[in-house]
Amino acid sequence: GSIDLRKDVGKIDELEKRLKFSEMVGYIGIGHTRWATHGAVTRWNAHPHIDCSGKIVVVHNGIIENYVDLKRDLERKGHKFRTQTDTEVIPHLIEEHLKEKETFLEAFEAAIRELKGAYALAIITSLEPERIYFARFFSPLVIGIGDKEYFVASDIPAFLEWTQRVIILHDGDYGYVSQDGVFLKNLFVGDFVERDIMTVEWTKEMAEKGGFEHFMLKEIHEQPESVRRTIIMAEKQMADMVSMLDDAEDIYIVAAGTSYYASLHGQYAFAKYGLKSRAIVSSEFLEEVGTFVDKDDVIIGVSQSGETADTLKALRHAKNRGAKIIAITNVIGSAITRIADKSIIMGAGPEIGVAATKTFTAQVATLNYMILKWAKAHGYDVGNLVEKLRNAPEDMSLVLKDNEDKAKKLAEEMYVKTNAYYLGRGLGLPTALEGALKMKEIAYIHAEGYPAGESKHGPIALVEPGFPIFAVVLKDETYHRMQIAIEEMKSRGGYIVSVTEMDDTHTQNMSDFSFFVPGGYSNILAPLVYVIPLQLVAYYTAVKRGYD
Ligand code: BG6
Repeated sequence: GSIDLRKDVGKIDELEKRLKFSEMVGYIGIGHTRWATHGAVTRWNAHPHIDCSGKIVVVHNGIIENYVDLKRDLERKGHKFRTQTDTEVIPHLIEEHLKEKETFLEAFEAAIRELKGAYALAIITSLEPERIYFARFFSPLVIGIGDKEYFVASDIPAFLEWTQRVIILHDGDYGYVSQDGVFLKNLFVGDFVERDIMTVEWTKEMAEKGGFEHFMLKEIHEQPESVRRTIIMAEKQMADMVSMLDDAEDIYIVAAGTSYYASLHGQYAFAKYGLKSRAIVSSEFLEEVGTFVDKDDVIIGVSQSGETADTLKALRHAKNRGAKIIAITNVIGSAITRIADKSIIMGAGPEIGVAATKTFTAQVATLNYMILKWAKAHGYDVGNLVEKLRNAPEDMSLVLKDNEDKAKKLAEEMYVKTNAYYLGRGLGLPTALEGALKMKEIAYIHAEGYPAGESKHGPIALVEPGFPIFAVVLKDETYHRMQIAIEEMKSRGGYIVSVTEMDDTHTQNMSDFSFFVPGGYSNILAPLVYVIPLQLVAYYTAVKRGYD
C-alpha cells in the first residue's frame, strides 16, 4: 500500500549503485529512462512523476501536446506542480478526476481522453496495489504474457528474458495488468477489446550482448546472419509482389532515418531495371506528394520498428486516399502491419542499439530481392545476382574481419575531427548518406553525405588540409566521375578515406586511407558490404571519444 519512488539523473549503472533499484521490495513496479524533452536535466524532471497526494505514479513515453493548457487549468484548481515536464499533468489529471469518478479506472479513462499528442503510459497507484495501468496512443506499447506475471514495455526485447508471448497494443488501447490477467479496453471502440497473443521467435540471447562491449557492435557483427535469415524470409513472403508492383501507376518508398537511406537505395535499384519509384522522407510525404497519391499507387513503407510516427502518418494518409500499402518491417504485428495490405517481415532479430545497422542491410536485401524478382518476371537479365545475394552473407563476414582493426586505427585519427564529408554516386550514394548519419548520430561529429558531383556547388568551400572525406567508390559507370571528385578534394588538402573494391589500386593510391570490399559488388548489392566499414568507423570513433 505504499510507493517507494527512486529517480535521478545519470547513467543507469551509476544510479543503480546509488539508488539500488534492484533492492526495492514489492511485486509490481514501473520505470523509465527518458531524455529531457521538457525542462532541464534534473532529478525532479526525471520519471516517474507523481500527483499531489503521492499516490499516483506515472511513466510516459511520448509528448503531451496540450500540457500547457491542462497544467494551467489544474493549477487553477489547486494542484501543485514540481516539474517542467509535460508528463506531470497526467497524475494530477487522474487525481482531479478521482474526485468525481467512482473507480480509478474511470478516472484514468477520463484523464486520457483529455490528452492530445502521443503517449505510452504505465501507472501504479497505492490505491490499487495489485495493478499496473497502461494506455497507448501513437507511442508503441506491448504487453508480455509470462507465467503468472505480466510486463508492460515500449518494446519486446525488454522482457524477452521472461517471455516470448506478446500482445501488441493498438492506438486507444488502455487497461491494466494484474495477477489475474490483462484487462483491455479501447477508447474509440468504447468497450472491451480482444487482442491476439503472438509468440515471437526472438530469443533471450538475441537481446543480450553476447560478449560484445555494446549492442551496436554486436548488431554490426550480426549482419551476415541477419541478411541470411531475411533473404530466406523474403523468398516466402513475396508471392504476389510482381503483380502488386505492376498494377501501380506510381510507386513511393517512404521511411525515416536509416530506413530512408535503404529506401533511397530501393529507388536506385528499381531504376536499374526500369521500374520507376520515388523514395520520400516520411515527414515530408504529405507536402511533397500527399495531394497526388491515389488508389492506383503503391506505397512501400520501410520501418524497422513498424512504429515510427511520421511513417505511419504518411501511410495512413495514402491508405485513406485508396493507395495500396506494402510494409517492410522487422517487427511482426507492429502498427505498420495493421495499415498495410501486404507485410514483409525481415529476419534481422531484435534491434536494441538505437542507431540502425543490421536492419539497414536487411532492408537493402529485402528491396533487392523484390526488384530482382520483378526484373526476372519481366525478362531482364539479372545475371547471377540472386545467387550472389544469397551468398552475400559470406562476403559480409569477410568484410567485417578485414576491416575491423583498420576501423579502430582510423578512429585514432577521426576522434579529434569536427567535420567529415561522405561522397557517393549512383548506387554508392545511399551508403555514403548512411555512413554520415552513423558518424553524427553515434560519434557526435558533424558529418554530411551528398552526391559527389555536388562538391563544387558549395561544400568544397569548407575543405582544408586534413578535412576527412569518405568516398564510396563503385567500379561501375560512376567510377571515373568519383575519381574526379576525389581529385578535387585532394587539391584542397582533404584527407581521403575510400571504400573500394579490393583490386582498385588506382583509388587506393589516391587515398590516404582505404577500406576494401570484395569484387563483384559494384551493383545493387553494394550497400551490403560497402556500409560495414563506415558503421565500424562510426562505432570505434564514438568509443574513442568516450561516448556511451
Ligand atoms: C531513428 C533511429 O530514431 O529512427 C534510426 O535513430 C532509424 O536509426 C529511424 O532509422 C527510423 O526508425 P524505423 O523504426 O522507422 O526504421
